[in-house]
Amino acid sequence: MTHSKAPSGALHSVAVIGASGYSGAELVRIILRHPALRLDSLYAFSQAGKRFSDLYPSVSCDMELLRYAGECDADICFLALPHGEALKLVPELIGRGKMVIDLSGDFRLKNTDEHERYYLQPKTAGSSMTYAMPELFRNEIAQAKAVSNPGCYATSIILGLAPFFHGNDRPFRVSSVNCTAISGISGAGRTSKTELSFSEMSENMRAYKVGCHQHTPEIMQALGSSVSEPAFDFTFTPVIGPFTRGIYSVLNVSLDGEASGSAIDDLYRNFYAGAPFVRLRDTMTEVRHVALTNFCDIHIASGPENGRLVIVSAIDNLLKGAAGQAVQNMNIMLGLEETLGLS
Ligand SMILES: NC(=O)c1ccc[n+]([C@@H]2O[C@H](COP(=O)([O-])OP(=O)(O)OC[C@H]3O[C@@H](n4cnc5c(N)ncnc54)[C@H](OP(=O)(O)O)[C@@H]3O)[C@@H](O)[C@H]2O)c1
Repeated sequence: MTHSKAPSGALHSVAVIGASGYSGAELVRIILRHPALRLDSLYAFSQAGKRFSDLYPSVSCDMELLRYAGECDADICFLALPHGEALKLVPELIGRGKMVIDLSGDFRLKNTDEHERYYLQPKTAGSSMTYAMPELFRNEIAQAKAVSNPGCYATSIILGLAPFFHGNDRPFRVSSVNCTAISGISGAGRTSKTELSFSEMSENMRAYKVGCHQHTPEIMQALGSSVSEPAFDFTFTPVIGPFTRGIYSVLNVSLDGEASGSAIDDLYRNFYAGAPFVRLRDTMTEVRHVALTNFCDIHIASGPENGRLVIVSAIDNLLKGAAGQAVQNMNIMLGLEETLGLS
């Protein structure tokens, strides 16, 4: 079946700005099979003028990729652009009454100084939006017209730790988290860089942005803390690994005082009882168990022993870490079933 512009009806019309990139292409794939959506328009930058199926022949969508010039007619706009670009477009889209879901880091951080320090880009004070992690902020997302989708490392790490920091029942205090998270190469986007080429990355791993990755303040913010006044010690080492998609986070957590395994287990099971995309696993999580899905798999891998435990969390960076979570958020904003189009 070939998808050109679909007929309208009661369906919500959708535009993807940045449709030629990896996250944008995943959005197109999901939107085409989503029963409540109609794909209205696709926008690109260097690839404008081509058809979507020229870039992604596995998807039968012959819509032309347009150069965005402020003319979007769709009711819902997903933005999957490099950091800094959404800042230029979002205020105008919101002003025109569009529902906006931005996948970049432009609107995630409430603290402007932290944004400028970690993204190395200027930002207008106060330009943050509802931080849209459904498992933590479902009620706020349901009320919002414009949301900022979480980062991929941040999603996996925050979900791996959230039961300690959110919810009514917080019997344990975390004193430190030491996290190493390995990302597949698609996390860096479609634009090729020499250090990410096959011959550089095949059978290779490389840590990068150690101590200065832009998801550090995002993780702290979502856990009710900040990098300038941390409520617990947090170290984060991102690593790029020799696989295409997936994030694998190994979280070494220290608690103040002792805890039993069953108490930790109960805490996690109660916290995620109503979360359709978080799976608590009794066996070790693996990237291939979540690749091509919107699931986050979490496993308490060891402990607690002397208050220490190891938690392993895995997601698909392009789905739960980007496009899948973005559609999950849109479903909540529209009052639809959270899982619609994502199963
Ligand atoms: N990749 C991931 O795993 C992931 C996960 C979570 C969040 N994100 C975020 O999602 C956003 C998109 O990431 P991605 O990995 O999908 O990137 P990508 O594959 O590099 O795609 C970038 C998109 O932006 C367009 N673009 C590039 N420069 C532009 C400019 N100056 N003005 C307007 N459009 C421009 C590109 O168009 P052309 O191709 O036509 O040039 C392409 O459609 C980023 O903010 C990223 O941080 C990515």
